[in-house]
Amino acid sequence: MISPVLDTLNRPIHDLRVSVTDRCNLRCAYCMPAEVYPEDFAFQPKEALLSFEEIARFTAIAADLGVSKVRLTGGEPLLRRGLDRLVGMLVAIPGIEDLALTTNGLLLPRFAQALKDAGLHRITVSLDSLDPEVLRRMSGRAIDPGEILEGIAAAAAAGFKTIKVNTVVQRGVNDGGIVDLARYFRGTGIALRFIEYMDVGTMNHWKRGEVVPAREIVERIGAHFPLEAQAPNYRGEVANRFRYMDGQGEIGVIASVTQPFCGACSRLRLTCDGQLFTCLFASTGMDVRSDLRGGEEDVALRERVRALWTRRSDRYSEERACVQSARRGKVEMYHIGG
Ligand code: GTP
Ligand code: 5AD
Ligand code: SF4
Ligand code: SF4
Repeated sequence: MISPVLDTLNRPIHDLRVSVTDRCNLRCAYCMPAEVYPEDFAFQPKEALLSFEEIARFTAIAADLGVSKVRLTGGEPLLRRGLDRLVGMLVAIPGIEDLALTTNGLLLPRFAQALKDAGLHRITVSLDSLDPEVLRRMSGRAIDPGEILEGIAAAAAAGFKTIKVNTVVQRGVNDGGIVDLARYFRGTGIALRFIEYMDVGTMNHWKRGEVVPAREIVERIGAHFPLEAQAPNYRGEVANRFRYMDGQGEIGVIASVTQPFCGACSRLRLTCDGQLFTCLFASTGMDVRSDLRGGEEDVALRERVRALWTRRSDRYSEERACVQSARRGKVEMYHIGG
């Protein structure tokens, strides 16, 4: 690394989140509603996607600027053929110490072992409910929670030691099932994290009343299984963690709406078609694909990324209260990758 790169709010670049595809085999209503995204929707054509070589080259440039943590996302990243090859390329980059994957889990029985063998460190699986009817409604597809649980089991069987489960909580939709989820994952070694429903993208008709505040989630679970707040694992940790007082593990809450964490946000996001975003809620990104394909030298591209980060002032979640978010164009979650 050359020298730490800080933005206008003194935040370093630490994480890179790479979306490898904008396609998904689910149609979660809060992300990619089925009525807007039919089977034949025009997702990015193959030639628009960054190749694995392009992604690895960009990641090495980002590592030079301070990135040590990379997360692969989508869409559903396991729909990208040969993802284990990309994993192998990324873990070999000097400076990359942590490589994680966020997936909906459906394809893990097929791919978990190859990903483990390629060197992937951690897996996070999205699961919004253990109730088949609720899950069908939220995921927009006729899937059963058992299929996702099989994916989680496959990850454990492949040898992944750190597995997390992410649950987006929507009031009146799946909040009735949060205690069941907590009960199910207690004592399994899997960290369950509840995410406050956010106004990402433009498709989900977000209403503040549908957000269940993290504090309420902790209280509801704590009433059944007493909890105790934990200190963060690292500065800028997104989840606030709580341990079960009887030693049966921990839960996390991601309070991006009620307790925004922009102050320590160190995440750079690369979309599958090579746009670079400095905030989950941005409307436009910087095109790096043309540079990667146009013969730009690594050093010149690195300086462009440095300049982007140096002038960064994003703090959308902290400003949410005073921004007319509904009127503002925002990148979609399945495109930027969460
Ligand atoms: P770890 O590396 O395991 O600590 O991951 P993480 O805590 O960063 O969690 P993950 O990447 O699984 O993110 C979980 C969810 O938190 C995402 O899907 C988003 O919904 C939300 N999230 C993550 N990063 C940000 C962020 O920078 N801003 C906002 N507003 N939400 C975020
Ligand atoms: N609010 C909060 N989390 C969301 N995710 C997708 N859309 C939203 C939203 N509107 C989460 C998914 C997954 C991760 C990639 O992002 O559930 O866990
Ligand atoms: Fe697919 Fe994840 Fe979006 Fe659901 S939230 S539609 S699983 S990308
Ligand atoms: Fe970072 Fe933007 Fe999320 Fe704030 S809203 S934490 S700046 S990605």
